Amino acid sequence: MKIRLLSREDVRRALPMREAVEAMKRAFAQLSTGQAEVPLRVPLHVPRHNGLTLFMPAYLAADDQMAVKVVSVFNDNPARGLPLIHALVVVVDATTGQPAAVMDGTYLTALRTGAASGAATDLLARPDAAVVAVFGAGVQGRTQLEAVCAVRPIRKAWVYDVDRARAEAYAAEMAARLGVPVRVAETPSEAVSGADVICTATTSSIPVFDDADVRPGTHINAVGAYTPQMREVPTETVLRAKVVIDHRTASLAEAGDLLIPIREGRMTEAHIWAELGEIAAGLKPGRTSPDEVTLFKSVGVAVQDVAAAAAVLEAARRENLGLEVEL
Ligand SMILES: NC(=O)c1ccc[n+]([C@@H]2O[C@H](COP(=O)([O-])OP(=O)(O)OC[C@H]3O[C@@H](n4cnc5c(N)ncnc54)[C@H](O)[C@@H]3O)[C@@H](O)[C@H]2O)c1
Repeated sequence: MKIRLLSREDVRRALPMREAVEAMKRAFAQLSTGQAEVPLRVPLHVPRHNGLTLFMPAYLAADDQMAVKVVSVFNDNPARGLPLIHALVVVVDATTGQPAAVMDGTYLTALRTGAASGAATDLLARPDAAVVAVFGAGVQGRTQLEAVCAVRPIRKAWVYDVDRARAEAYAAEMAARLGVPVRVAETPSEAVSGADVICTATTSSIPVFDDADVRPGTHINAVGAYTPQMREVPTETVLRAKVVIDHRTASLAEAGDLLIPIREGRMTEAHIWAELGEIAAGLKPGRTSPDEVTLFKSVGVAVQDVAAAAAVLEAARRENLGLEVEL
């Protein structure tokens, strides 16, 4: 029996962002229409090393795709000069149960997280959105900007990071890669006040911008916070936004951006408008006016990894990428 080994570069070549965005719409639509099996992810806590490793399996029934991701978030890594997140994906053939591929999951995670925001931006942002503000000049911040540029005619981007040097490096790299001017903001306010789309991809536990700076009609993708104690978006912004989530069960267990306002008694679960998949499947409308503020809150769901990994494997077989290994 042979399996295919795919490196980070193979994954990058196999799945361009625009195709990843469409794969996410299909995956979320299956999730929200009862066509996905997604057991709760299994966390292994490693307090001794300030780390967490998650095991994330899923099966997409309509597309007959199955995989599991092993992803680690080790908080001391940035101080060691290592990435915060490392991951590996195993794709299993849904017809035979045979292992089909092992691939880099670190870039795949950034790709699918960006692509989910790309799908949300495509379904929720104003069609003429032209200015984007990114908070967090890290790994996820890069694919956030790439994804928004893939679905809207972006003319200018702002980046804000508490670490100015990281923001400078990001601006130079992303401007060259995307052909869009990227400016470093001195303050959160400078980034947000002219933005049509805001992406937050930080490790912050407190709101990263002021609600007063958010203009009517703005779309926000908030992807950084993934525990009940972490948040990036101010309560006031959540309250005035049409709130769309990736997965109801996961959001209500993990999304501090929503759970903190609920705990404060400022809103209830009923304020959540829809899952992104309900909008992708045409079951609920997205934006209904140009002045509406829309908020996509993502904590990350295994269906994203399965859909992205399956699309990577399909392209890799077609283009003969990676290495076939006899087990
Ligand atoms: N929703 C999802 O599916 C998903 C997927 C992957 C990662 N994440 C989460 O996204 C977050 C970012 O991940 P990453 O891999 O890009 O990490 P990273 O370490 O590469 O980048 C995070 C950046 O945020 C900056 N930052 C911290 N606080 C800030 C603040 N208040 N304002 C502006 N910048 C600030 C840091 O200086 C750093 O540059 C993490 O919390 C991670 O767990 C979510």
